[in-house]
Amino acid sequence: MDASAETVQSALLAWYQDYARSLPWRNPPGQKPPDPYRVWLSEVMLQQTTTAAVAPFFDRFLARWPRVTDLAAAADEDVMAAWAGLGYYARARNLLACARAVAARGGTFPATEAELRQLPGLGAYTAAAVAAIAFEEAATVVDANVERVIARLYAIDQPLPAARKAIRARAEVLTPSDRPGDFAQALMDLGATICTSRNPRCLLCPLAEGCQGRLQGAELYPVKTAKVARPTRTGSAFWIERQGAVWLVTRPGKGLLGGMRALPDDGWSARGNGDGTPPIDGSWTAAGGVRHTFSHFDLELQLMLHSGGDCSRHPEQGQWWPLDRIDDAGLPTVFAKVARLALAQTAEMGE
Ligand code: ADE
Repeated sequence: MDASAETVQSALLAWYQDYARSLPWRNPPGQKPPDPYRVWLSEVMLQQTTTAAVAPFFDRFLARWPRVTDLAAAADEDVMAAWAGLGYYARARNLLACARAVAARGGTFPATEAELRQLPGLGAYTAAAVAAIAFEEAATVVDANVERVIARLYAIDQPLPAARKAIRARAEVLTPSDRPGDFAQALMDLGATICTSRNPRCLLCPLAEGCQGRLQGAELYPVKTAKVARPTRTGSAFWIERQGAVWLVTRPGKGLLGGMRALPDDGWSARGNGDGTPPIDGSWTAAGGVRHTFSHFDLELQLMLHSGGDCSRHPEQGQWWPLDRIDDAGLPTVFAKVARLALAQTAEMGE
């Protein structure tokens, strides 16, 4: 028999009281909800990203832009550069658009899931998480951790992603009207620390008794359809150096790494390979390459050094960036890797 909603709620909330993770955007269990700005900022950062990776970025953002109106007033390039390294850069563009929408309505976030959903970048998950955690609305919050817990608890044998509807229906029944924010975060913590993808620690689980999946082996759930192999793309990035500075461009606003500072490249994208065309004339030397994994493809990016010819005129919009401040350029990780390689190579050539 399935455990009743009340049994699951009280077992989980009691567990959370003792084992809630202490995270910089949280208040301890049972206390008043944190400021909606903190909740929203953390939830946007946590989309597809671990709590460990997010924590230092969250602290830096909050120190630099303590209120949503401060963030709204920030220059786009400062926010994009501060986001560098967190990945999924569309989130940073949406973050700014949302901060500005909230500032335009006087600097306060709307307090319901339905209104939050209207803000730029707030999908079903984020709107529900902010509504539940910051405003104590009984919104149902389903992320990948919650999905796994629910699929196991009820031994849902439909494969993902088709099972999402059934999982959500189960999660809705479980959502309490009292302490919905703690309940949502308790499910997330359970998924992150006990009901893990591999080697779940069922002996320590507060929901073990009523868990249907555990009877057959929790790891069998959620059922997944076979993965398609991740394709590999190839491209080139171009290093043009002059008087202690390197030529950096700003990528177009939309699309992969949109709005981020970058090295000029040959047009590789999530869908295709680059054509190898350098951005300016002159002679070029291949100088190794880096590999980088994006969510939907792997990239092999070849480094090309400009080794002769006029580099004073450029077809692309950009700027000369001092090499001794390259770490402040806010390069996304893939280009930061290429820059490190280029600096190592050019240092060697200068020896
Ligand atoms: N992942 C996404 N949101 C989270 C939260 N509020 N606490 C812990 N992990 C999370």
